[in-house]
Amino acid sequence: MFDINKVPSQKGRIAIITGANAGLGEETSRIFAEKDMKVIMACRNQKRGEEAKRKILAKVPKADLEVMQLDLSSLESIQAFVEDYKSNYSKLDLLINNAGIMVPPLMRTKENFEIQFGVNHLGHFHLTNLLLPTITGTENSRIVILSSLAHQRGKIYFDDLNWEKSYSKWEAYGQSKLANLMFTLDLDEKLKASGHKTMSVGAHPGVARTSLARHFNKLTYLFLYPVFFFMTHTAEKGAMPTVMAALDDSVQGGEYFGPTGRKEMKGAPGRAEIMPHAKDKEVRDILWSVSEELSGKKFQIVK
Ligand SMILES: NC(=O)c1ccc[n+]([C@@H]2O[C@H](COP(=O)([O-])OP(=O)(O)OC[C@H]3O[C@@H](n4cnc5c(N)ncnc54)[C@H](OP(=O)(O)O)[C@@H]3O)[C@@H](O)[C@H]2O)c1
Repeated sequence: MFDINKVPSQKGRIAIITGANAGLGEETSRIFAEKDMKVIMACRNQKRGEEAKRKILAKVPKADLEVMQLDLSSLESIQAFVEDYKSNYSKLDLLINNAGIMVPPLMRTKENFEIQFGVNHLGHFHLTNLLLPTITGTENSRIVILSSLAHQRGKIYFDDLNWEKSYSKWEAYGQSKLANLMFTLDLDEKLKASGHKTMSVGAHPGVARTSLARHFNKLTYLFLYPVFFFMTHTAEKGAMPTVMAALDDSVQGGEYFGPTGRKEMKGAPGRAEIMPHAKDKEVRDILWSVSEELSGKKFQIVK
């Protein structure tokens, strides 16, 4: 069983965590900082990032944290973030693609992609692509991508990927989280095929009490909160599958981690179930090509 207390110091290693100013990203940042890792907190709002940094420093005074601005709803912002990072750092041990948005009203990114597909999947796809030479050039590096139980019912709607004919906020969330898991698996296969040691690993938190529910109807949320509370766990526990995927020695590329309790909703971290449709090679191939086309840059995974 994974025990964070048995993980040795990670001194000298650098992690980028997207969406590090709240929920799971903030907890993952704190846990990594406790293990002496340098953490780049990639946040869309600098002020909220600095506030989260102060909160972590109050708990972990030795924490080595740097807030950098990254808005995953803008390809230009992603490009600027990567250029800024590369001008200061020549290696990257861990990339944690954590940021996410769930069931908002129909919103679009700067490039006009539906926001859940745009931020949760495409933004991270592009970020990973731009950082790939740096991360594959670093020994023992890993890319951890956050998916969700929502991948189980997810479907990729190639006939209306961008929700232009109609919009279902839940189906759009499911699509984006299935895309996250398909990307994890494809990336790992492509890394292995080209002889790279960098691993791509998936993780999901089960159901954790974070601000992800900010777009829920407030009254319904308050009414259901007692049941919700009982079925869920804290952000700290929800972050553990990510931490395990990033730091446990037994992890293999292409694996998927989540809570091991009933229906993977909460509990200790361990190996999680990948639904068969997430492994569909035909769908994954199309998704990969479409994602390259929409983000405007092909992956070059060569050694
Ligand atoms: N909580 C759960 O039960 C649960 C379940 C399954 C999967 N997940 C996944 O876990 C991940 C983290 O979610 P969470 O629960 O920690 O939610 P959260 O508390 O709402 O945190 C989400 C983070 O993503 C950031 N973000 C949103 N849009 C962004 C953008 N355009 N650019 C950069 N950052 C952006 C947010 O920044 P702002 O604060 O500035 O908005 C925030 O830091 C997500 O990928 C989510 O899909 C969570």
